Amino acid sequence: MNSKNSNEMDTGDFKANYITLKYVFLKRSNYKSLASFFGLKFDDSTEKYRRLRKNLVPVKRLPDALIIGVKKCGTRALLEFLRLHPDVRAAGSEVHFFDKFYHKGFEWYRDKMPPTLEGQITMEKTPSYWVTRSAPRRVYAMNHSVKLLAVVRDPVTRAISDYTQSASKRPSLPRFEDLALVNSTMGWGRAPWSVVDATWPPVRLGVYARPLRRWLRRFPRSRLLLISGERLVNDPAAEMARVQKFLGLKRVITEKHFYFNSTKGFPCLFKSESRSTPHCLGKNKGRNHPHIDPVTIQRLKEFYKPFNERFYEMSGINFGWD
Ligand code: A3P
Repeated sequence: MNSKNSNEMDTGDFKANYITLKYVFLKRSNYKSLASFFGLKFDDSTEKYRRLRKNLVPVKRLPDALIIGVKKCGTRALLEFLRLHPDVRAAGSEVHFFDKFYHKGFEWYRDKMPPTLEGQITMEKTPSYWVTRSAPRRVYAMNHSVKLLAVVRDPVTRAISDYTQSASKRPSLPRFEDLALVNSTMGWGRAPWSVVDATWPPVRLGVYARPLRRWLRRFPRSRLLLISGERLVNDPAAEMARVQKFLGLKRVITEKHFYFNSTKGFPCLFKSESRSTPHCLGKNKGRNHPHIDPVTIQRLKEFYKPFNERFYEMSGINFGWD
């Protein structure tokens, strides 16, 4: 039991308390100078001071916005572009909470987030959320007013991009044409005829209408922004203006942040408007695609046509992929 009362502090106690008080005082004087820097009058007793103190300490928060997909449509480009904004902070790598690690709980998820100041947007991108059946329900359980972003691109190009990524890891992979089409003997007396293999993941993932229906069962259309992967390449500033508006951000990312790098064949970034540090996405983004037989391309276009139309109808946007 501690036998000392508050009047009986020994020298050690006194020293410790003195140091604590000095520390508190120093911290407060820091806020004081910060407050005056922001043009605010400092008064310990005011609510303003308490709010200011809270706002100046970055803390980890659950995301306010998520890039939920779609794989190989330009999700990394979108995240890198958004990172140019001072009011956006994003987790660096894909967190996979709503598909793989949901059992770890929201505290685990929060811990993966970067610390943010009040008013800054916390984000992460995991493209597999788009096709994870339980993701809409789980995301809704976290925050039903979260903002969702999905990049979409011509499903034929997306499939080739997906295949190119796999082939870069497995050079022995059969040709795209041999995987995208399968022989079918369906139909009385017909010669074997090749049809699109709708079960092959690179093909299946381009049927955007199905996952969209699932997300729209949980979230209103106004909570989901569909971003054109083509426009993100051809006119990144215009597409980023839409994104910033949707997220309620000041339009800070503009034409001044982009330049077209002809070697890369894609837009690259200036980290600030002053055009100081140019930066392109890594080698695994913007790969050269193999030449694909035009008959296969045509078959795929025909295959996707009704799905694309359904997607345009549901989303209210004609992406012009036909
Ligand atoms: P390719 O590498 O097949 O060309 P994701 O980040 O979702 O995996 O998407 C990758 C795709 O983003 C790339 O596919 C590329 O076409 C596209 N992309 C869009 N903007 C880009 C940019 N500024 N730099 C590189 N790739 C970009």
